[in-house]
Amino acid sequence: MAGAFQAVQISDHVYWVGAIDWGIRDFHGYSTSRGTTYNAFLVMAEKIALIDTVKAPFEEEMFSRIASVVDPARIDVIVSNHSEMDHTGCLPSALTRVKPEKVFASAMGAKALSDHFHLDREITVVKEGEPLSLGNMDLAFIETRMLHWPDSMMSYLAEDEVLFSQDAFGMHLASSGRFADEIDRNVLRQEATRYYANILLPYSPLVTKLLEKVQSLGIPISILAPDHGPLWRRDIETPPLWYGEWASQKPTKKAVIVFDTMWQSTAHIARAIEEGLAGAGVDVRIMPLASCHRSDVVTEVLDAGALLVGSSTLNNNMLPRVADVLTYLTGLKPQHLVGTAFGSFGWSGEAVGLVADRMQAMRIEPVGDTLKVRYVPDAAALDACRALGREVADKLKRICDDS
Ligand code: FEO
Repeated sequence: MAGAFQAVQISDHVYWVGAIDWGIRDFHGYSTSRGTTYNAFLVMAEKIALIDTVKAPFEEEMFSRIASVVDPARIDVIVSNHSEMDHTGCLPSALTRVKPEKVFASAMGAKALSDHFHLDREITVVKEGEPLSLGNMDLAFIETRMLHWPDSMMSYLAEDEVLFSQDAFGMHLASSGRFADEIDRNVLRQEATRYYANILLPYSPLVTKLLEKVQSLGIPISILAPDHGPLWRRDIETPPLWYGEWASQKPTKKAVIVFDTMWQSTAHIARAIEEGLAGAGVDVRIMPLASCHRSDVVTEVLDAGALLVGSSTLNNNMLPRVADVLTYLTGLKPQHLVGTAFGSFGWSGEAVGLVADRMQAMRIEPVGDTLKVRYVPDAAALDACRALGREVADKLKRICDDS
């Protein structure tokens, strides 16, 4: 396999030497339906730098791309912008094969690399405002703590105006073209949205601050080079604009109804609530959990203003797929939602109350009463569902019109 892959030159001194993972479909619970890339970069300065590495199984792909430019043994330094193993998995073997003078990371990155790999060498800590000299050019660093790990940072090569933004502004998208302008714009927006919703959503307040910080630095950026998905050499303002929009989590007149059902009663309730919402002018997404993945749910919730969650009662509890999606959403901390819980039951009927408790813990503002129907909804029950839909719609429209 060595020598089979070529690097891609992205600027005067920088080459993409990453790997394309066409087959990955699960990224610890996030459905990556279009695969991904692990982007690593070679800076051909007087001192040659490798910025980030790739996931462990892709070691040979990265090294063959490096070898298409330079003997890997000539790399002088390695910079780790982020210690998560999709970017550091082959760092230990890179240390053996490259034998770099030094490895650089943020203070938290140095600790994380040590805890991951129990290395027998020092990691040199870099700081914002203390550039690293590569001889004829410098690398500067921007700390981005908790975006999305404590160790996260970005690197900037002023000589070529390249910002290596690590996970930020990335997306899980495998493609043969390396640049965003070679890919359908709708696909870019779709996958960037999914990435933000599934990875960065809980850190939205920090994203807002980061955007302000990068803007205040006033650094020219000709290439925006994230660690996943395509690189941006045109319309570079687009990903930060998208991030500003998503980070604000401004509610819209859109409702997501997510549910699981045993014998279709909870599904009928969901459809009747939808009729009430849609009839009152709200855009609705119905997401049956038997056919919708949790990562699609959070992607739809990202720009929604209302979330309604339904479950039948099974063995005194909510259905397992509902518990799954609530656990996932709780961790991702969507903000500014209103909503309610609903569902059918036979005799004990705990599910709706349990779902409502979880939604309250997520700080979703309750609208109206929760809705429970014994066994199968009749015409009167379905009217009550439509009325609940209208009540949620009225609340949502007031919020959106006031904001
Ligand atoms: Fe792509 Fe947080 O690793």
